[in-house]
Amino acid sequence: MLVTRPLASAARSAVFRHSVQASRRYASSAPTAAFAGQKGPNGKYTVTLIPGDGIGPEISESVKDIYKAAEVPIDWEEVSVTPVLKGGKTVIPDAAINSVKKNTVALKGPLATPIGKGHVSLNLTLRRTFNLFANVRPCVSIKGYKTPYDDVNTVLIRENTEGEYSGIEHEIVDGVVQSIKLITWDASERVARYAFHYAQENGRHKVTAVHKANIMKMSDGMFLSACRQVAKEFPSIQYDEDLLDRVCLQITQNPRPYADRVMVMPNLYGDILSDMCAGLIGGLGLTPSGNIGRDASIFEAVHGSAPDIAGKGLANPTALLLSSLMMLKHMGLNTYADKIEKAALSTIAEGKSITGDLGGKSSTKEYTAAIIGKL
Ligand SMILES: NC(=O)c1ccc[n+]([C@@H]2O[C@H](COP(=O)([O-])OP(=O)(O)OC[C@H]3O[C@@H](n4cnc5c(N)ncnc54)[C@H](O)[C@@H]3O)[C@@H](O)[C@H]2O)c1
Repeated sequence: MLVTRPLASAARSAVFRHSVQASRRYASSAPTAAFAGQKGPNGKYTVTLIPGDGIGPEISESVKDIYKAAEVPIDWEEVSVTPVLKGGKTVIPDAAINSVKKNTVALKGPLATPIGKGHVSLNLTLRRTFNLFANVRPCVSIKGYKTPYDDVNTVLIRENTEGEYSGIEHEIVDGVVQSIKLITWDASERVARYAFHYAQENGRHKVTAVHKANIMKMSDGMFLSACRQVAKEFPSIQYDEDLLDRVCLQITQNPRPYADRVMVMPNLYGDILSDMCAGLIGGLGLTPSGNIGRDASIFEAVHGSAPDIAGKGLANPTALLLSSLMMLKHMGLNTYADKIEKAALSTIAEGKSITGDLGGKSSTKEYTAAIIGKL
């Protein structure tokens, strides 16, 4: 049997001394995730569009049609991320990378991840290429789409680069495998600062760090130390901490108290808790997300490429549309975002022109036309 001995208290305090020193080193790091796109001579911003696979092109077309009708000041720069061979390796084409770097913002359709076909997950590659450190997932109840829960309004921010997803695994001896959860002060502080920044920008007066520091005293303990340190920079935002299991229990019993805050947490907890919150509002088909990086941010629907309905004109574009509205707010184009959101949500609430997954009979194009009709 493999026995892990707790660290001696001297070693433990050395780690925390290091944390405090590290905090001093990073405390002055530049604010993150600022949109740095510039308007072109025609008064419009250029945004990279990655239509993606399966239903991706159909739902991207729907977003483009709605934006045209709403006269959003955006020119789309469409790029493909289909991998190409470079030096014997499959990589994302340079044109796609350069477009996102230049525009600092992208909207992305779902990408199919072929199982066992030799190239790495493109989603993971994009995340690493642009250091997309925070995954923001709001889940808001949609009127007209009834679920057992009303008035859900949660915002969860997941650390996106390390934790249980660091990919460090090895077999120690036959039958014993170790997987390393890597937590760094740098990444914890960066995601914590973004959570407070997001709360401040979006009228939420509290940040709750979700953790299991009762069990993972050092790794989650350091994540909490970083959150506490950042909290001092935001005196107008309240800060508290709660255990992951308690939060799951409380949200499923009554999600309403979570409408006042932003939850921030390490990678795996965010992965699981965000899907749980998506379930409260009716599933992944309605859930938007934003991957925030220091130099670029990529917004995408949470669902996949839905190969079973691809090309049939049945896909629901709502999640990609809501993701694009998060993008508009990130770019400071809130008026356009609000106008389109109102049109889309009232189309769903009316229930006359909704897609099959929401219980309606309309095609992607009919649903899109109904939204445009309301703009
Ligand atoms: N972010 C991403 O790019 C992303 C996320 C998840 C899965 N994927 C990839 O997508 C592929 C398919 O994955 P999956 O089948 O497990 O999940 P999926 O989300 O594509 O589909 C699950 C079910 O939901 C339905 N569905 C999903 N989105 C819909 C929409 N907008 N409108 C109507 N119905 C919708 C599908 O028809 C299917 O029945 C895989 O290759 C997977 O790796 C990509």
